[in-house]
Amino acid sequence: MATHKLLLLPGDGIGPEVMGEVKRLIDWLNSAGIAKFETDTGLVGGSAYDAHKVSISEGDMAKAKDADAIIFGAVGGPKWDAVPYEVRPEAGLLRLRKDLGLFANLRPAVCYPALADASSLKREAVEGLDIVIVRELTGGVYFGEPKTITDLGNGQKRAIDTQVYDTYEIERIARVAFELAKKRKNKVTSMEKRNVMKSGVLWNEVVTQVHKREYADVTLEHQLADSGGMMLVKWPKQFDVIVTDNLFGDMLSDIAAMLTGSLGMLPSASLGEVDVKSKKRKALYEPVHGSAPDIAGQGLANPIAMISSFGMALRYSFDMGDLADKVDAAIAAVLASGLRTADIKSEGTKAASTTQMGEAILKELQKLH
Ligand code: NAI
Ligand code: MG
Repeated sequence: MATHKLLLLPGDGIGPEVMGEVKRLIDWLNSAGIAKFETDTGLVGGSAYDAHKVSISEGDMAKAKDADAIIFGAVGGPKWDAVPYEVRPEAGLLRLRKDLGLFANLRPAVCYPALADASSLKREAVEGLDIVIVRELTGGVYFGEPKTITDLGNGQKRAIDTQVYDTYEIERIARVAFELAKKRKNKVTSMEKRNVMKSGVLWNEVVTQVHKREYADVTLEHQLADSGGMMLVKWPKQFDVIVTDNLFGDMLSDIAAMLTGSLGMLPSASLGEVDVKSKKRKALYEPVHGSAPDIAGQGLANPIAMISSFGMALRYSFDMGDLADKVDAAIAAVLASGLRTADIKSEGTKAASTTQMGEAILKELQKLH
């Protein structure tokens, strides 16, 4: 059995609390002989600042580069609001994304049957929903140059952001989407604004070429990003994999996520390029939520987003799709049993703690083995 190296970066606030529940799963998988994970732990964000006055140390960056996957909690909190900009907690996460070349951000929106009534949409619109948004993460308008604010001298200022995409950036994100679709419902919807943006014209052209050349057996549809947004809230089940740029992806993935419930439920993966020699890719898995300072230290955090992020690591870094399915099934079973953390419970019912939820999920997983 291959040994997989995991770097756990719990971070700040509820990060360490929810990471503890992933550690519980890992320890069991190891002791039951189901998998062999070698874990190391590092500091990131405010906790790294407190220890070393940095947002992540060089030593931990080296460990991150060496790991087969990084499991990341969350960073930040009011305690570090006044630290210098270069070492603010988020800088640690941005450095990891940048130095590891994590250009593909996968955000699933899955509706657990037990929570279908908690959605802002009607039950029939979300029941059974299982889609993934693939967002380009390292290019586009967030990084393009020029990026300036200029004083025009007449009481006016001019702000410029630039959307830049090169062919290779669109090709590699398109491949991630097509590969993903092949393992799912075999359908990709590409979203851009080719009617008003040159980058949208190129995006459309390149995705079409990659499709024709390499993935003709996958269904490809193109949609303008604004009407795509409408379709997402109208009938999200028409999609399987959506691929889009950094800016549209930021918005569409947040919209898609909210169709299915609480921030405490939402996982994500950020993937780098596949190394030609080792066939491995850098990857970081993290919940969508932040460090939730308002509930930190009280054992109230929902660990499901973190646990399902670990499930994504099993699926996308370690080719353990069956085990990932079981983790998902264990979460669904626990929710079906009525157990709820405070963020997803209905009024008048008793909330489970972070630990109770984590223990219950492990118990269900054990039953499935
Ligand atoms: P947040 O996601 O931390 O919290 C928003 C709301 O959702 C809070 O009421 C919180 O209690 C609740 N919540 C979040 N995760 C939860 C969970 N697992 N279980 C139950 N409830 C949960 O976002 P917020 O409050 O805007 O930011 C707090 C700090 O986190 C800030 O310092 C921010 O910069 C940082 N942050 C870090 C991120 C990261 O590490 N990737 C992402 C987003 C924010
Ligand atoms: Mg966002």
